Amino acid sequence: MPAILYRGSLLLGSMAVFATATLYFAGAFNRDAVTAPKFVDLQQGDTPHAGFRRAHAKGICITGNFESIGALSSYSIAEVFKKGSTPFYGRFSIAGNNPTAPDLKAPVRSLAFAVNSGTVDEWRVAMNTPPVMAVATPEAFFQQLQALSPDPITKQRDPEKITAFFKAHPESKAFNDWKADYVPANSFAAERYHSINAFYLHNELGDKQAVRWVARPHKATNNAAMLDTSSANALQQELASRLDQNAVKFDLIFTLAASNDDENNPTIPWPSDRQTINAGTLSIVSWHNQENAACGDANFDPLVLPQGMSATADPILRARGAVYAQSYRRRAKETLLGAKVSATNGGE
Ligand code: HEM
Repeated sequence: MPAILYRGSLLLGSMAVFATATLYFAGAFNRDAVTAPKFVDLQQGDTPHAGFRRAHAKGICITGNFESIGALSSYSIAEVFKKGSTPFYGRFSIAGNNPTAPDLKAPVRSLAFAVNSGTVDEWRVAMNTPPVMAVATPEAFFQQLQALSPDPITKQRDPEKITAFFKAHPESKAFNDWKADYVPANSFAAERYHSINAFYLHNELGDKQAVRWVARPHKATNNAAMLDTSSANALQQELASRLDQNAVKFDLIFTLAASNDDENNPTIPWPSDRQTINAGTLSIVSWHNQENAACGDANFDPLVLPQGMSATADPILRARGAVYAQSYRRRAKETLLGAKVSATNGGE
């Protein structure tokens, strides 16, 4: 065989080996592997809502400024932590795949935001009300979602399945303890929102510090009188009328891990005596319908981090990047093809 043909077949052979290995690790030959498409198939349910997020489908856009105190600048070189003000856009949402779901029935509420978009200093954040996850791996979280999914015929959840799942996962104790004590606030503005996963801060000296954070409402103004409990959009309406009068503010409080805290396990709360630092205030000044504002088309991928921050090896955190991208691709394609159906009940 001529040398050129020989080298060509060697090259083709090694490309085939590489492609096979890639497919293998991507789960193509393992029917049980949990992949991003499988997650999104499960989360979107039997009848996907075209053009909407496959999780946290219902939300409202916000804009404002992050007013940094500068107190984190010795831990991170990130621009956003220098003393000063940085504009952001963001989104309050409720968990679930239904863009018209009643606000007050959702078990989890969320706050996402992005600063310095389109630059190397971009920081995207997506936080939920629970401080911890129930389980520590994407595989176990997939099973949790399966256990919580309603039966396709009866449309009811199976309490036995749910009990069996949590019994098999004792690591869910901290989450279930939180859930037992959690009293939903009467406003998006009065909840606490947690990073849950841990991240690293990096400073000029090359030091690395694991952190989690919580967005803590300035005043826990929990005004029941402002809430129209009969409305499916009660929380969105309450937020809008609040913002029409005043800014809504949260402090961003960072907790610094000690050397014996596990930053890769989102089920374990860190002890309450850990050092905390107030990084500054998220001051929210306006709201917009999600179909007409920046947050609607955004993907609040928590792996988009500025210089001076990085992701821990927490497998849940790592999985989020791939799953959010999969959800984003599906809804962006549907929107482009005009398949998006406007949510009729204020879910847009
Ligand atoms: C393996 C675990 C998780 C999976 C599979 C998952 C899945 C998803 C998906 C598919 C979306 C929609 C993405 C899009 O189309 O833009 C989403 C959005 C979101 N997730 Fe997760 N998630 C996970 C863990 C978490 C955790 C730990 C948090 C909180 C710290 C969180 C907070 C959020 C929030 C706030 C949004 C909505 C962001 C927005 O307003 O667009 N998720 N998630």
